[in-house]
Amino acid sequence: MHDIIKQLEAKREQARLGGGQKRINAQHGKGKLTARERIELLLDEGSFEEWDMFVEHRCTDFGMANESVPGDGVVTGYGMINGRLTFVYSQDFTVFGGSLSEAHAEKICKVMDQAMKVGAPVIGLNDSGGARIQEGVASLGGYAEIFQRNVSASGVIPQISLIMGPSAGGAVYSPALTDFIFMVKDSSYMFVTGPEVVKTVTHEEVTAEELGGALTHSTKSGVCDRAFENDVEAILMLRRFFNYLPLSNKEKPPVRKGADTAERLDHSLDTLVPDNANKPYDMHELITKTVDDGDFFEIQPDYAKNIIIGFARIEGQTVGIVANQPLVLAGCLDIKSSIKAARFVRFCDAFNIPVVTFVDVPGFMPGTSQEYGGIIKHGAKLLYAYAECTVPKITVITRKAYGGAYDVMASKHLRGDVNFAWPSAEIAVMGPKGAVEIIFREEKGDPAKLAEREAEYKAKFANPFVAGRRGYIDDVIMPHETRKRVARSLAMLKDKDIENPWRKHGNIPL
Ligand code: HXC
Repeated sequence: MHDIIKQLEAKREQARLGGGQKRINAQHGKGKLTARERIELLLDEGSFEEWDMFVEHRCTDFGMANESVPGDGVVTGYGMINGRLTFVYSQDFTVFGGSLSEAHAEKICKVMDQAMKVGAPVIGLNDSGGARIQEGVASLGGYAEIFQRNVSASGVIPQISLIMGPSAGGAVYSPALTDFIFMVKDSSYMFVTGPEVVKTVTHEEVTAEELGGALTHSTKSGVCDRAFENDVEAILMLRRFFNYLPLSNKEKPPVRKGADTAERLDHSLDTLVPDNANKPYDMHELITKTVDDGDFFEIQPDYAKNIIIGFARIEGQTVGIVANQPLVLAGCLDIKSSIKAARFVRFCDAFNIPVVTFVDVPGFMPGTSQEYGGIIKHGAKLLYAYAECTVPKITVITRKAYGGAYDVMASKHLRGDVNFAWPSAEIAVMGPKGAVEIIFREEKGDPAKLAEREAEYKAKFANPFVAGRRGYIDDVIMPHETRKRVARSLAMLKDKDIENPWRKHGNIPL
């Protein structure tokens, strides 16, 4: 017995050391934490229950029979974040570069399966050189086993990926199938084919950072939802982010009451919208002044900035915010912003998070690049997402709601539950200038006449009352009471229960 305990301790010690002190030092030298240090920081102190510490690979080729580290390059288990359960895996770059063997994959699959059984999120801390080259197809099979579980778990439990080192080749596809991808600046990168292959095939010279670093994916590709400065910031922000989410699709998000009261008025909002309809303003101001304690966790803040998405709370309840941003492209909807918002609305819908939409949108972005890029199908994604969404939907039109974009942005016709407009709202087929240039084309040579027509159109349509007369707008509210009215609406909708017709699955225009 004594011997076994000694053996156990020795094995644990070996597992804890991963690839050895030299490699741990190298990891620290790159400004990265080790797999275990990351878990320690992520989970509440002392809450981590580790599994499969003694798992080893089964490969005997290329001298691997004598090269084994208990745990095989990934630390797995479960623990608590602010007292709430989560499963976690953390790849250990010090062991064979965190590469994925069959056994390593099995460990990840085990925590994913368990997370599905009990209904709790899975957080993956990725730091891996990809498929374990010595293992060949066994490793590829391991990846596919993970992919299948990612898909089965999609919409059932939240899945979050934090990329903290390399993620290359097919290895990118597990994070891609999860709900959110966060990255660490300068030390993480993701690409399907690395710089060497790119050079051979397309003759482009590009560094790993340019090709797939955190900045690239958070500004250019939209693959990354948030980029953080270092491991510590990334993990602490992940803990904060976790607090917004329910553990599974069977429950509502947690309620975390702040200091704010629901009835709080904000008179500064009465002057947010400029008198000149063509002048922009920052929609962030409305968001932070409406939600609890001004606390807004923005997703993809540096990508498709013409739409803002993110999580906040109202009376302690998590809400998803979607808002046009007049500061960028005048708030027009284009391909990137439609996809960005559509995916977010679908996440909220899958996980019982009400959606609050702030609208100031002059329409869809015109132009050949948009049309050739398929704005028709991509714009339809957002339309589809809002239309199928059954969680509470509250919409506030602050200024422009023109054309198809009016319909798309959680309008009454797409089962918006409560649709408000500010007095500055303009709900019409298009802006007054464009409208009169089309309907009074024959008067184009007479600017004075045209100006008169424009004023006439403006007086008739550039207000919230035409839509109000038809009941498309439930009430015209003063900007300063936005928080109060949204909070009351959310409270009224607390037990909203509607279902879409049965189907195997819909066919969103992908
Ligand atoms: C086995 C690996 C490995 C791998 C790294 N190592 N990647 N061992 N399989 N995939 C080992 C190295 O041999 C080295 O061992 C140790 O990990 C650290 O690696 P270094 O190269 O010294 O580190 P660094 O310079 O930081 O470079 C990291 C790296 C590089 C960029 C990730 O190691 C690399 O290019 N690795 C190969 C990446 C790759 O081609 N993977 C397969 C992708 S295809 P020693 O003992 O020397 O310290 C794929 C298919 C998935 O993943 C398909 C799913 C559908």
